[in-house]
Amino acid sequence: MSQHQLSDHQPEGGFSTPVGSRRTFFQWVTLAAAGVVGMGLAIPLLGSLISPAFTRRRLAWVDVGAIDELPAGRPTQLDHVTTTRDGWMEAKSRKAVWAVKHPQGEVTVFSPICTHLGCGYRWDNAENKFLCPCHGSSFGINGQVLGGPAPRPLDRLPAKVESGRLLVMYKDFKSGLAESIEL
Ligand code: FES
Repeated sequence: MSQHQLSDHQPEGGFSTPVGSRRTFFQWVTLAAAGVVGMGLAIPLLGSLISPAFTRRRLAWVDVGAIDELPAGRPTQLDHVTTTRDGWMEAKSRKAVWAVKHPQGEVTVFSPICTHLGCGYRWDNAENKFLCPCHGSSFGINGQVLGGPAPRPLDRLPAKVESGRLLVMYKDFKSGLAESIEL
């Protein structure tokens, strides 16, 4: 192939410049640079889209009320709405917990589910204990089993007080086991 055939442009002075090849080279460089930038943007974006699928169910702290409004020494049922995030799914559900404010001010919060087979229980003021209507289990104010088939004490929920508000993290537990195992 002759020098004349390679040249797209023949300036005065006899130098030839392979303009077509240079253009192609710059096109490749531009494409490669765009590809690198594109990958740089796409990878974090892809990661943020995919990562929720691998994220374990996330529980949130929920404000269930003012700590001052809880009567000391008597369990109070507190209803609230809790949000659970599982991958891309977000679900809101109505929950209830039992909160006990002790005379010294500390608070214990119980799951509202009986540890025997999962029924809801209630506090009985006259008997001064929690009673489950399903199979007759009963629990003391500290959650201890007083009677019936319940295999373990009431399950405790994480709780904290911030700015005078009681915050609770709702969780579910397996029923019927001697050990408290979170679902
Ligand atoms: S579910 Fe409560 S005693 Fe059976």
